Amino acid sequence: MRALNSLVLAVGLILPYLAIVASALPSVPHIVLPDNSWEPFQVRLAYAGSTGMHVSWNTYYPLEEPTVLYGFFPNALHFSASSTTSVTYPTSLTFNNHVKITGLEPDTVYYYRLVGSQEGEILSFRTGRVAGDKTPYSIAVVVDLGLIGPQGLSTSVGNGAANPLKPGETTTIESLLDNGDWDFLWHPGDIAYADYWLREEIQGFLPNTTIKEGYRVYESLLNQFYDEMSVITSIKPWMVGPGNHESNCDNGAAVDPAHNITYNVTICMPGQTNFTGFKHHFRMPSEESGGLGNFWYSFDHGMVHYVQFNTETDLGRGLVGPDEVNGTDGEYSGPFGEWRDEQIEWLEKDLMSVDRRKTPWVVAAGHRPWYVSAPICVPCQRAFEPLFTKYSVDLVLSGHNHLYERVAPMANNISDPKELNNPSFPWYITNGAAGHYDGLGAFTLPMKGYSREGFNTSYGWSRLVFHNCSHLAHEFVASGNGSVLDRATLFKGRECAGG
Ligand SMILES: *[C@@H]1O[C@H](CO)[C@@H](O)[C@H](O)[C@H]1NC(C)=O
Ligand SMILES: *[C@@H]1O[C@H](CO)[C@@H](O)[C@H](O)[C@H]1NC(C)=O
Ligand SMILES: *[C@@H]1O[C@H](CO)[C@@H](O)[C@H](O)[C@H]1NC(C)=O
Ligand SMILES: *[C@@H]1O[C@H](CO)[C@@H](O)[C@H](O)[C@H]1NC(C)=O
Ligand SMILES: *[C@@H]1O[C@H](CO)[C@@H](O)[C@H](O)[C@H]1NC(C)=O
Ligand SMILES: *[C@@H]1O[C@H](CO)[C@@H](O)[C@H](O)[C@H]1NC(C)=O
Ligand SMILES: *[C@@H]1O[C@H](CO)[C@@H](O)[C@H](O)[C@H]1NC(C)=O
Ligand SMILES: *[C@@H]1O[C@H](CO)[C@@H](O)[C@H](O)[C@H]1NC(C)=O
Ligand SMILES: *[C@@H]1O[C@H](CO)[C@@H](O)[C@H](O)[C@H]1NC(C)=O
Ligand SMILES: [Fe+2]
Repeated sequence: MRALNSLVLAVGLILPYLAIVASALPSVPHIVLPDNSWEPFQVRLAYAGSTGMHVSWNTYYPLEEPTVLYGFFPNALHFSASSTTSVTYPTSLTFNNHVKITGLEPDTVYYYRLVGSQEGEILSFRTGRVAGDKTPYSIAVVVDLGLIGPQGLSTSVGNGAANPLKPGETTTIESLLDNGDWDFLWHPGDIAYADYWLREEIQGFLPNTTIKEGYRVYESLLNQFYDEMSVITSIKPWMVGPGNHESNCDNGAAVDPAHNITYNVTICMPGQTNFTGFKHHFRMPSEESGGLGNFWYSFDHGMVHYVQFNTETDLGRGLVGPDEVNGTDGEYSGPFGEWRDEQIEWLEKDLMSVDRRKTPWVVAAGHRPWYVSAPICVPCQRAFEPLFTKYSVDLVLSGHNHLYERVAPMANNISDPKELNNPSFPWYITNGAAGHYDGLGAFTLPMKGYSREGFNTSYGWSRLVFHNCSHLAHEFVASGNGSVLDRATLFKGRECAGG
């Protein structure tokens, strides 16, 4: 009965989309949904304060009332939380279900099960640490992590791509699992690289599809990636931010040199522009932090205040003169704020109100860097750096360039003479080496004078180890074998208040 109701609902939901997109250009042909009914997949978690958790998953059909059963023991899932949020968008093959569980105990393991799971799989998560908890812990950070496997990063590459996996090489996803002693995964942008479908086709890596039918390839790559992340994200929170590859269906522009064609955002189907998939797929704690959707938000976890900022749109006062575009690099996305400087004003308010006795560490992450031996994002520097310096942010993380580089603590292009020994300036690290279809990127030589270490020879992720209020270690972990290729410890000369 329930199945029948939902099927009727599914048809009811899908038909209007087809009607809408039929009148738009380009038109979306009929979508045939696979008949896997309501089986949950692509399970993902995100903190919602230290007493809440967003639980999200996808289904091929909409759910009337997405529900999570949970409890302290696997055989006693006595509590339940539900919502009416089962959302999709044109071209999507799936529905994104979101439930926010509230009223949980902090730093506590819960077991949970999604209603509709035919296998009855019981999973677990641990809630966030309260602000002020001074227990040491680690987190993992990846940027620019794309689909791994035959249609993404694999042991072969297309004509123009590089750095295939070596046979048997441990991938970043496997490495994160093998070295899983971290609380949550932070992923500030470039998630899946589904927008590389056309590039992969042009490079002869994937069979040709017509541009008109390409949206299916895009969706397929996206879903494959979310599927493979699920082993991690169903047990650890996955905190995400926007990158350029979330913005539209072809990363702004795909060039076919053989036929002298530059494809731009106008080829994208409705639903594959303006961060639509990214907005539907994730739920980040912006309600808790006054932020905006998955674009900018903050959260506390133990002795750290984390800030996710958006380098892709809404650069506000960072955009002057010829830089004033709609989003960066042909993304033709955003703005999402209601006024020009909404993000920047939010950021100042957020940083101003941090209680450094509770959360002595402040770590910010945004997709694009401005201290790296590679092309930099100047509007990003104008928009964000003055606030990071003013409010003594300890560490700023980014990616976008597909390499690893650790630089000195910096302000206004000048390195802090104290280096890592109690600097006044924020420390900057770029690590876009997580791995995706077209491999690793090049440094622009000579390396910048403020560069302290760099690698573009192996895939890797970042581990942050918060020892106490004065010592924070950053490690660049080689995905291939788990070894730490670079370790540096930031010392801040502050008194550690009691836990
Ligand atoms: C894709 O089509 C182009 C012509 O449009 C052709 O040159 C190319 O060889 C084809 N590639 C594959 C993998 O079929
Ligand atoms: C490529 O196309 C551009 C315009 O789209 C044209 O100006 C140029 O001459 C073409 N180049 C070749 C080699 O055909
Ligand atoms: C996209 O490409 C088409 C065809 O080449 C061109 O007419 C249009 O101006 C381009 N649009 C943008 C936003 O670049
Ligand atoms: C930005 O978008 C507006 C409308 O959305 C458009 O009129 C304008 O030309 C765009 N600016 C650039 C530089 O593309
Ligand atoms: C993207 O979406 C936002 C809000 O949903 C909207 O205000 C903005 O105009 C859109 N931008 C483009 C380029 O469509
Ligand atoms: C830092 O250097 C870059 C590259 O030379 C430049 O574009 C930028 O304006 C400089 N920023 C500041 C704040 O001086
Ligand atoms: C790493 O950067 C150097 C310097 O630009 C470049 O020569 C090399 O090709 C890059 N390696 C990869 C794998 O991109
Ligand atoms: C903080 O941790 C570092 C690294 O483990 C250690 O050397 C230092 O003594 C600790 N400081 C305090 C105040 O506990
Ligand atoms: C681990 O991998 C890195 C990067 O590929 C390599 O430089 C290093 O020698 C390897 N270490 C061991 C112990 O195999
Ligand atoms: Fe990027």
